[in-house]
Amino acid sequence: MTRYQTIVILTGAGISAESGIRTFRDGNGLWEDHRVEDVASPEGFARDPKLVLNFYNQRRQQLLSDEVKENAGHIALAKLEREHAGEVLLVTQNVDDLHERAGSKNLIHIHGELLQKRCSRSQTVSEVRTDLNVDDVCDCCGAAGTLRPNIVWFGEMPFQMERIEAALQKCDLFISIGTSGAVYPAAGFVSLANACGAETVMLNLDESDNAGAFKRSEFGPATKVVPMFVDELLNN
Ligand code: APR
Repeated sequence: MTRYQTIVILTGAGISAESGIRTFRDGNGLWEDHRVEDVASPEGFARDPKLVLNFYNQRRQQLLSDEVKENAGHIALAKLEREHAGEVLLVTQNVDDLHERAGSKNLIHIHGELLQKRCSRSQTVSEVRTDLNVDDVCDCCGAAGTLRPNIVWFGEMPFQMERIEAALQKCDLFISIGTSGAVYPAAGFVSLANACGAETVMLNLDESDNAGAFKRSEFGPATKVVPMFVDELLNN
């Protein structure tokens, strides 16, 4: 039993890096190969839907390949949720399903999910584990050309913000893992947690943009620092 009751965790691309999934802003990151506005914005999708669908098809194919699986960081967070007597909410900016594969249940994908598609007309969300093509027919309204990845693009509203803000207001521990703190609203969660009196901890490979806002930081790869921190929490 730790001294904390309600724990909110935010993860970013860094927790999946050691599973072989590229981050965005590190060297050789995804945004080095693609212009964000071309592949991760509604305008880019309207301009060239084939380019955008192929960008996500490639990432989905890699995620579903044998080379990618959950790592010790994902597994440690699922263990914390199972063994912590209080509440653990995991908010991830990642669109992969590695937290689910590791066993996390109380989970919010604030930027959507790579294995989901959405009909732009009916807003129906359904699973997708194959390529999405521009002329695919939507099985909810029978129209072609209305399907898109259920991913939050730049300029769009992240998902479940009210639920996340309510959890941050009542948490007594906020942990940020593997995120550069470059993108809002997620980068602002630490400020809300601090304002509500929570302990705030950053676990990262190096300094994030908002590092100064955290009361404590531990540096290193997620597969090392996350299991260590979870064991410290569960044994204190
Ligand atoms: N272990 C821990 N942290 C790591 C590791 C690792 N093995 N490898 C990289 N990191 C850290 C980097 O130091 C960096 O701070 O993970 C962070 C990755 O930062 P970004 O690439 O910016 O990814 P993220 O913070 O998740 O981006 C947020 O931006 O582009 C949008 O929607 C996209 O969800 C994404 C959002």
